[in-house]
Amino acid sequence: MTSQMPRPYRSVLYIPGSKDRALDKARSLPVDAIIFDLEDAVSVDAKIEARGTLAAALAAGGYGARAKIIRINGLDTEWGADDARAMKDVDCDAILLPKVGSPADIDALAALIGPDTPIWAMMETPEGIFNAKAIAAHPRLQGMVAGTNDLAKELNCRTRPDRLPMQMALQTILMAARAHGVVAIDGVYNQFKDDAGLAAECEQGRDLGFDGKTLIHPAQVDITNTAFAPSEAEIDLARRQIAAFAEVEASGQGVAVVDGKIVENLHVETARKILALADAIAAQGA
Ligand code: COA
Ligand code: MG
Repeated sequence: MTSQMPRPYRSVLYIPGSKDRALDKARSLPVDAIIFDLEDAVSVDAKIEARGTLAAALAAGGYGARAKIIRINGLDTEWGADDARAMKDVDCDAILLPKVGSPADIDALAALIGPDTPIWAMMETPEGIFNAKAIAAHPRLQGMVAGTNDLAKELNCRTRPDRLPMQMALQTILMAARAHGVVAIDGVYNQFKDDAGLAAECEQGRDLGFDGKTLIHPAQVDITNTAFAPSEAEIDLARRQIAAFAEVEASGQGVAVVDGKIVENLHVETARKILALADAIAAQGA
């Protein structure tokens, strides 16, 4: 993969940092990223031991090109600060902080882990959603993950297939992430045996603009990878749009028409992004 290629984040699987078997299984799953979890996937009794289990798994390696993201416990818990210190020198691509409320939380984590490791934020509290833009603007922040289970708990909203109660939060996360060029990942789909429900929610998240979706079970990976990858039809259209625009541009015009729709410079930029993502995904499989 060349450095100009975008890094795909279609499938982002949570793995309990305490479970050797799941940590091992992840080495062979076709996910784009892994969230190695010390927080909600790990029981209170296993919290401290999980630090060593996870550090050993990451030291052993074998996770290939998958992005390695470590989710620590919140800094307002008895484990958070020690998690951060324990993970400071572990090989990973980012540390993910739960329940981020403001940029001050990112500063607090940065003070514990030093200047190098990128920070991601769980966006899962009303305070965090209201402060989304300032959080995304923090120079250390490189990714935002929608924590839809915690948000539903805080809002006291009902679970609906259309996720209507979540839309304001999801779109605010996206606006903030896009305003500051950070990755945006959708929340989990809890019914991990309901493939049709997962596919519909993936489609919604993709159509909103998310880069990918967080997952809780390996059975969710293939559906998600397909949903967040450009389809053959999208790739074909992108190529035809680029070609048609080049043709009209050569004759001194600024607007082409493809399949009955206008194509301007900005559509060509989107088409190029689609092809770059498709290339990055293809390069990963190679
Ligand atoms: N990552 C990697 N491997 C996983 C996994 C995960 N998140 N979830 C399950 N597996 C593995 C299991 O270890 C098992 O592997 P094996 O065949 O080698 O034994 C295999 O996939 C099948 O698992 P299955 O028996 O169907 O599921 P389970 O009953 O063991 O676990 C859950 C179900 C939901 C408890 C489990 O998927 C899980 O803990 N998910 C993560 C939850 C989480 O991260 N929550 C916090 C974020 S919301
Ligand atoms: Mg949470």
